[in-house]
Amino acid sequence: MKYTAKAPANIAFIKYWGKRDEKLRIPLNGSISMNLSGVFTLTSVEFDKSLKEDQVWIDKKLERKKEKERVVNHLDIIRKLAGIPTKASVNSENNFPKGTGIASSASGFAALTLGAASAVGLSLSEKKLSLLARLGSGSACRSIPDGFVEWKAGNSDGTSYARTLYPPDYWDIRDLIIVVGQKGKKVSSTEGHTLAESSPFFKSRISGMGSKIREIKKALKDKDFSKLGHIIEEEAINMHTVMMTSNPPLFYWLPETLETILSIQYWRSQGLEIYFTIDAGPNIHVICEGKSSEKVIKKLRSLRKIRNIIENKPSIGARIIN
Ligand code: DP6
Repeated sequence: MKYTAKAPANIAFIKYWGKRDEKLRIPLNGSISMNLSGVFTLTSVEFDKSLKEDQVWIDKKLERKKEKERVVNHLDIIRKLAGIPTKASVNSENNFPKGTGIASSASGFAALTLGAASAVGLSLSEKKLSLLARLGSGSACRSIPDGFVEWKAGNSDGTSYARTLYPPDYWDIRDLIIVVGQKGKKVSSTEGHTLAESSPFFKSRISGMGSKIREIKKALKDKDFSKLGHIIEEEAINMHTVMMTSNPPLFYWLPETLETILSIQYWRSQGLEIYFTIDAGPNIHVICEGKSSEKVIKKLRSLRKIRNIIENKPSIGARIIN
């Protein structure tokens, strides 16, 4: 039977950058994120005894190389768990440009995990789904549970998974994604992770993580938006510094990225409470509270070269929708 899963992308407030175990995708630090209501992947999976090999369609294109291999590897894990050899047909669609820092691997592997597990007849706990999604793409483990999420790094396959800190309706935080670039990135985040430790700043990043995570959890608990925003912004700059100082250096920003950052900081100095974060791509995530989002969108529209703004509220995690 065909199952269709819908999974949100998520934005990391505290980032996952650098792995303890590359194959198992166990991170060197824990991370905190919010699932996003406006950017998601829909993935249908059907196991079919008549198929000689897996068929993988992503955004209406039949994949034959790297992308297919990653999906097939993930299907193999799920087949092994279910004890069946049957090949599958997978049809996955993103409602946003993939590979541009809007976490398509997170929503993609969360939807694939839930869709494939359901189609093969496995009924798994949220924890198990999160553990499995992590094997496809680390950040995907955070797109399984609802709302505001913590991924505890753990130190083994069975201890590294994400869980909900607060449900989506806990706090009306908005993430306005400013799309400045639509092209896929040259260096994938999977490759980027392997370079993290070559930055001279990586060690100090990791040593400050424990207290940063405690502080952001307190800001979430107290609903202290200024504190939350400052930590989010400082963390994004910290991760991008590590990226830019790794060997070889990684620059995900475009000129428009920096222009937007400077505008955000200027508007903030004028009293508008907004902050930014950026993942492994040029697009900027503007973080504000629901009550100021209309005003912020107006400001953002006045910027040159903005292609698109995608508005997000906190969202539920992955669900079967058929
Ligand atoms: C910068 O989850 O894409 O978005 O585990 O290799 O698939 P893989 O990496 P991925 O890394 C995401 C990195 C990030 C930060 C984050 O989302 O925490």
